[in-house]
Amino acid sequence: LQTRSNSYAFGIDNQGLVRHLYWGSRINAMEDFEMPELAEVSTNDPVYEITKEEFPVYGGLRYKEHCLKVTFADGTRDVAYEYVNYEIQKNEQCEELVIILKDKHYALVMELHYKIYEAYDLMERFVVLKNESTEVMQIEKLHSGQFHVPYEGLNFRNVHGHWGAEQQKFVQKVDYGKIIFENRRGISSHNHNPYFILDQDATETTGNVYFGALRMTGNFSGAVEQTQYGETLVQMGINTHDFTWDLKPGESFASPEILCGYSADGFQTMSHNLHQFANDFLLREGLRPVLYNSWEATGFDVTVQEQKKLAAKAKELGAELFVVDDGWFGQRHGIDNGLGDWYVNKEKFPNGIDELIDEVKAQGLLFGIWVEPEMVNPKAELYAKHPDWIYHFDTRESDTSREQYVLDLTKNEVKAFVLEMLDNLLSNHEIDYIKWDANRPISQTNLKKDLWYKHIQALYDIVKETKKKHPAVLFEACASGGGRIDYGILGIFDDFWTSDNTDAYDRLFIQDAYSYIYPIKAMRAWVTDCPNFLSNRVIPMKFRYHSAMMGTLGIGCNILKFTEEDIALSQEMIAQYKEIRPIIQEGTFYRLNHTSANDYFLYEYMKGNEGVLFAFLPQSKLGHRGVTVKLRGLEENASYELLMEDGKLTKSGSYLMKHGFDMRLTGDYASMLIRINKL
Ligand code: DGJ
Repeated sequence: LQTRSNSYAFGIDNQGLVRHLYWGSRINAMEDFEMPELAEVSTNDPVYEITKEEFPVYGGLRYKEHCLKVTFADGTRDVAYEYVNYEIQKNEQCEELVIILKDKHYALVMELHYKIYEAYDLMERFVVLKNESTEVMQIEKLHSGQFHVPYEGLNFRNVHGHWGAEQQKFVQKVDYGKIIFENRRGISSHNHNPYFILDQDATETTGNVYFGALRMTGNFSGAVEQTQYGETLVQMGINTHDFTWDLKPGESFASPEILCGYSADGFQTMSHNLHQFANDFLLREGLRPVLYNSWEATGFDVTVQEQKKLAAKAKELGAELFVVDDGWFGQRHGIDNGLGDWYVNKEKFPNGIDELIDEVKAQGLLFGIWVEPEMVNPKAELYAKHPDWIYHFDTRESDTSREQYVLDLTKNEVKAFVLEMLDNLLSNHEIDYIKWDANRPISQTNLKKDLWYKHIQALYDIVKETKKKHPAVLFEACASGGGRIDYGILGIFDDFWTSDNTDAYDRLFIQDAYSYIYPIKAMRAWVTDCPNFLSNRVIPMKFRYHSAMMGTLGIGCNILKFTEEDIALSQEMIAQYKEIRPIIQEGTFYRLNHTSANDYFLYEYMKGNEGVLFAFLPQSKLGHRGVTVKLRGLEENASYELLMEDGKLTKSGSYLMKHGFDMRLTGDYASMLIRINKL
């Protein structure tokens, strides 16, 4: 399989095994690849153990992590496949190779899919299982594919964290033993994220980087294993935790895709390829509006008068979309009631929600609204009517978290209820944006072990279905902020609420880590009030704006309390953001290095002849030394003008990229936005 710069090779050997041969920089002479003959090292090192299989199954003398375990109707738990055939399909976006395998005895077909996105240097791998027998087959494990990285001693990178502290980068040396990264909560990504990066001490612009992101929300798992034979294996897919899938006669089941690639020149190429792919294939076209969200300003204390005032003020500042958050519906005065009762609260909106929407529209703003459709409070009217709609075991008390239960979306009537609720909301009111929240992990998922997986499929279906009828509506994936950032949901939803942590300094770390894998256009970032509700930190407003302008800008302050100075600064910053928005949301993003003793954070965005550089200095130290900034992505021989707050500079692309230019910020929480223009 050839992409612009890379090759991925495998073949079928004389025993019908699908054997990996190569993953790395492009080799044009494919005929040079040879299939080594299977030979045992010793009786204790069976051939399967030393054979690089593309899709190792549980069966025979295999002891490493496998990708598939099936129990057949007669109780046999052993897959033995043989190669049948292959197909090549072409469509506008990609070329797809399908390798068809079949069990030697049972009518189980395994299709290995490889979609090649040549220009993006990316590939998508997934597996389709087909039961062509007359009996049920039980799938106990399905990972989407195995990768063989031809090195030992690699670095494994991912993020760790928890609510309010998502996307904290970590790096771990791969050694003997296994690294398992996973989610068991149904809400994917507060703790770890469904991707792997394996590198050989790479930097932004140098070194081998192998990576893959699973296109799945919910319970994923991944395993990294350095073998005794000089290579590193990595695989990802559906978590086996509390999972089985009954594959009925005549049915098929597809694993989630792993979007993967290789970069010979560091993390930047990885990020660029993924960002480009997401922008071109997954994300809806068009620039994202500047949002105002009232959550941090009003909490559950929503009133029509105040929301109208906030909308007018948001307009004055330059916002384009007004979102009313939690608290507008049912008896929602706190976390303990209202979820499930999706009617407008009469005390808060005596004349209905349209009074607010009309005002918002009269201001020329778009209107957005918060929902949490997968949940119900025990006190809600919906729960009184349908206690059996939640996930539960009949003999156990169901656990609440945030005083709510999770609705069993896999039940037809529940799914229909949510679909109808959304349809009514969107058909009866002029709503342009839905913020979809989910504020607790799933638990006690009923007697069937496939519900973790089915829940997420139902969630995807509901949003896809709703979008068919209401195609203009944008959907934000929230999940307590940061809980559903993954390539499964991206594209079905349009934005991520990146984190409930809106502290502008913490956000630099969160946003930096996010940018490795996920596109900037989907990264919602708000400016909020100080002291920050989580960190208690006070940061100047300009720094807060600059930090939030790195993604899709939002404002979450109580803007009714703004001083004249705050208003003027906000107007200036929002107007500036609108000017640079195409560069931020659609440009190419660079995490710049520097050698200053001061902790500068430097991020560059380039689109065509224009660019932006954000420089942050959270804390000055050691004599307030300046920094030399080397830009990237410029044309060597072109001249560029850098527009700084304190003057301008004209230099060649070559000079700016190789020598760099000097700048200096002083004090604490200093920041600067520099415009870059090709002359
Ligand atoms: C969690 C979200 O991340 C917040 O932005 C807010 O919408 C609250 N839920 C509302 O309950």
